[in-house]
Amino acid sequence: MDMDKYDSVMELAKRRGYLWSSFEIYGGTAGFYDYGPLGAMLKRRVENIWRDIFVINEGYYEIEVPTIGIEDVFVASGHVGGFSDPLSECQKCHESFRADHLVEDVASNPDTLSSDELSDIIQDNNITCPDCGGKLGDVYEFNLMFSTKIGPGSKRIGYLRPETAQGMFVDFPRLLRFYREKLPFGVTQIGKAYRNEISPRQGVIRLREFTQAEAEIFVDPRDKTHPGFDSIRDHVINLYSDPAQSSGTEPIEMSLGEAVEQGIIAHQFLAYAIELTHQFLLRVGVSRQRMRFRQHMKDEMAHYAVDCWDAEILSDRFGWVEIVGIADRTDYDLNAHSTVSKTDLSVYMEYDEPKVIERIAVKPDMSTIGPVFKGKAKAVTQALKSLDAGDLTGDEVIIEVDGEQVTIPVDMYQVEQVRETIRGENIVPHVIEPSFGIDRTIYAILEHAYREEELKGEDEGRIVLGLKSEVAPVQAAVLPLLTREELMGPARGIESALKRKGVMVAYDDSGTIGRRYRRNDEIGTPYSITVDYDTLEDSTVTIRDRDSMKQVRSPIDTIADVVHDLVHGHIRFEDAGTPIE
Ligand code: GLY
Repeated sequence: MDMDKYDSVMELAKRRGYLWSSFEIYGGTAGFYDYGPLGAMLKRRVENIWRDIFVINEGYYEIEVPTIGIEDVFVASGHVGGFSDPLSECQKCHESFRADHLVEDVASNPDTLSSDELSDIIQDNNITCPDCGGKLGDVYEFNLMFSTKIGPGSKRIGYLRPETAQGMFVDFPRLLRFYREKLPFGVTQIGKAYRNEISPRQGVIRLREFTQAEAEIFVDPRDKTHPGFDSIRDHVINLYSDPAQSSGTEPIEMSLGEAVEQGIIAHQFLAYAIELTHQFLLRVGVSRQRMRFRQHMKDEMAHYAVDCWDAEILSDRFGWVEIVGIADRTDYDLNAHSTVSKTDLSVYMEYDEPKVIERIAVKPDMSTIGPVFKGKAKAVTQALKSLDAGDLTGDEVIIEVDGEQVTIPVDMYQVEQVRETIRGENIVPHVIEPSFGIDRTIYAILEHAYREEELKGEDEGRIVLGLKSEVAPVQAAVLPLLTREELMGPARGIESALKRKGVMVAYDDSGTIGRRYRRNDEIGTPYSITVDYDTLEDSTVTIRDRDSMKQVRSPIDTIADVVHDLVHGHIRFEDAGTPIE
């Protein structure tokens, strides 16, 4: 088979210490990947850029909760009941398959079909096992959560969390207090999530253990305008709306202001989250030309969402792949947890202006209620006070006290018209959620950064990983031209100075200088510093730019500052020294 770009990227990733299949010496298992020394560093840098945007700049503090959740949490969230994919097992080789994938060629909307419908389609079309041609079994829903037992014995079921989000909903009362009972506020989490995918066949794109970076932003449902929207209103994004997909038209470049005004994006908070996502993806190195925001069609939306946009990246092998989901989850999750935990998860919100209302109120007559109901009199008066005007039509009312129906005759209470000032109301917030798949983002970065170049006048070309210098694991290479003490000494000095500045530096003195440049091009090192014999004459070194391969000479005594500033984008390469022609 010809190598495609996925193969080339993964071959490089394995060879150079970015990424490889887990448990390799035991033959590996689909859906699990290890980050090697460079991959783990790249991932940390990407996560820290995410933190810079969401935690530091937006002020959405990060929390950390267990990756195992108790059963109640996922009963409430709907994952125990409904987080499943349709499975069909081969009766001969016992391999399992996603039934909706098996019927893709014969059904136009496989992911909306029931298990029975999928079974019928498989039978009617004589679809057999893709691996061995055996007969496929009936389709059933397979829950994607990994389950476990908490403590010895089998009494307490736990689940590995399928999303980090639920921890932030469950902690809502404490978080609300932390944020001084005011909306909107946001909370974030970066951590592992787990899904027991049926038969993941897309390498690093579909993992069973993966890292999510999620923000849950709790907003007032009556007002989804974002205070910072004016600053991003004119930003233009590649949007692929539901109507565009339904009518078969192409995505369009549109400003976020226009998209909200035309009702394409439901509201400003969602649009603002799309903008933050766009900024993040560009900053970590996803290609602007190979990125779009696609709205979920009505029939693909998650059960909790009213509007949802995916950031998708174009990959060579898999086409458009979702790497971020941005959803308005409404009050679905807080209501669900409120019901199951029997905890109030609302916020008391004061009106800007108090409201004066007139209403019919019930005034219990204690002199008649007390002697009749004795110990229950208090409960009876409370139940009476909470009645509405509509309950008070006859000569008596029936109320419930301690689970019992009690009849109260009309002479035990009076009805009167009262004026009341209402200062606010209890509201269950809505949640806006940008949810990032960090591993898919890492893959997108690698694929979009990977290129093979021919070099003029040379037999061999070069492979370049054109990573942004802010995410490149090794930020600078220090290369003495020859392994001579007079060159190695100053090179070691530069290495130490760069380390003191927090620059990740690789000292490399093995092989020709050309080979060393190629090695660093392949791992994405943005700058190489070479110490040569001119250094001993004029106290300058060369800095080579990975992408243009241009070189400048720069004084050795300020080299650590200059390289630090280059790596962090504070200066341009052209300003880092005197060009070498
Ligand atoms: N929290 C959204 C998701 O995991 O899909």
